[in-house]
Amino acid sequence: MNRLQGRKLVLGVTGGVAAYKAAELVRLLGKAGADVHVVLTEGGARFVTAVTFQALSGNPVWTDLWDPRMDNNMAHIDLVRGADAVLIAPATADCLARLAQGRADDLLSTLCLARDVPLLVAPAMNRQMWEHPATQRNVACLAGDGVTIVGPAAGEQACGETGMGRMLEPEELFEAVIAFFVPKRLAGRKVVMTAGPTYEAIDPVRAITNTSSGKMGYAIAAACARAGAEVVLVSGPVALPVPAGVKRVDVRSALDMRAAVFDALPGADVFVGVAAVADYRPMLAAEHKIKKSGEQMSITLTPNPDILAEVAALSDAPFCVGFAAESRDLDAYAEGKRANKKLPMLVGNLVADGLGGDDNTVVLYDDAGRHPLPRAAKADLAAQIVDHMAGLLPPVGGR
Ligand code: CTP
Repeated sequence: MNRLQGRKLVLGVTGGVAAYKAAELVRLLGKAGADVHVVLTEGGARFVTAVTFQALSGNPVWTDLWDPRMDNNMAHIDLVRGADAVLIAPATADCLARLAQGRADDLLSTLCLARDVPLLVAPAMNRQMWEHPATQRNVACLAGDGVTIVGPAAGEQACGETGMGRMLEPEELFEAVIAFFVPKRLAGRKVVMTAGPTYEAIDPVRAITNTSSGKMGYAIAAACARAGAEVVLVSGPVALPVPAGVKRVDVRSALDMRAAVFDALPGADVFVGVAAVADYRPMLAAEHKIKKSGEQMSITLTPNPDILAEVAALSDAPFCVGFAAESRDLDAYAEGKRANKKLPMLVGNLVADGLGGDDNTVVLYDDAGRHPLPRAAKADLAAQIVDHMAGLLPPVGGR
């Protein structure tokens, strides 16, 4: 996955204990194709050495405004020239104060002042330092200057206290960088979606379900959030973390899912049905665990409502996107479902290609025909699906 291919990033590392997490961040950014140039402050170098960052980034590490390796002595200009963004992680309270004041007395502060590219900062400090009015003033000032503040999070801190001020984890920072570069094609849009399986109770410990990891749905939710949408994800039981910027509503059965979808629907511009909703549920769920008798038994099933079809049939229906996982005849079944449920767009895939795995092959169907996407990681496919969908939406407020 080369989601940052061709991107040049300057990573500033200041003197906080969270500097150790910056090493992992460099590895993740590099793995995604980014060309990372690390600038280490004097304080940062006390926590992690330049050698570590040099080995992980494959580039020289810079600490000194007067570094003789820059032949024109213009390290602060040369480093940001051609960069796509500057990220400071960790950004200490002192770093935020200095940036807010526009100081230029070391390499990192000087290049931040000399840059004409976006700046992202990931604060990391003790909770009292974070809550201090001076820090809050500096953060507000930086945000007002157009700096993107990433985090911090609440949690256990190196000082032994618990509270706000912990730097985001490397994976979260990595996601924030990816999201930063995604065009905000869904800004101002509300997306309601379903993902995962449903569980239809037979008794308190048994249920009928569909095989679904939820990975594709969660990838779509993450991609919608990255594209700037407000996302409500109604999810059946899955073992996946909530994507950044997504509101998850947990449900178990198809009936619960339907109720949660209709609760979330007011104001929605888009509805995406990715869930593998059980088509049937036991007519009656036993109140207590059913004991084995050794005899044959049968369960009477009754059909579940088709959530997607119901939403698409509303007089003021949002733009509806369906999914179809088929074991054969993909084109015929997918186009059939799109027509039956009156969907402007449907994403089809063959179960053998994608179920449960991290990769998938999908075909998009819309009024203009079929659009096969090459096999890719689910996160990459999700970005392409969301991009395609964004191109079909009516203008904001134009529904
Ligand atoms: N869907 C839904 N509610 C249901 C069933 C399906 O919202 N009760 C949605 C799914 O989230 C998906 C699409 O409808 O977007 C799948 O269409 P469907 O024809 O219902 O697929 P299957 O249930 O797989 O149909 P079949 O078993 O007939 O192949």
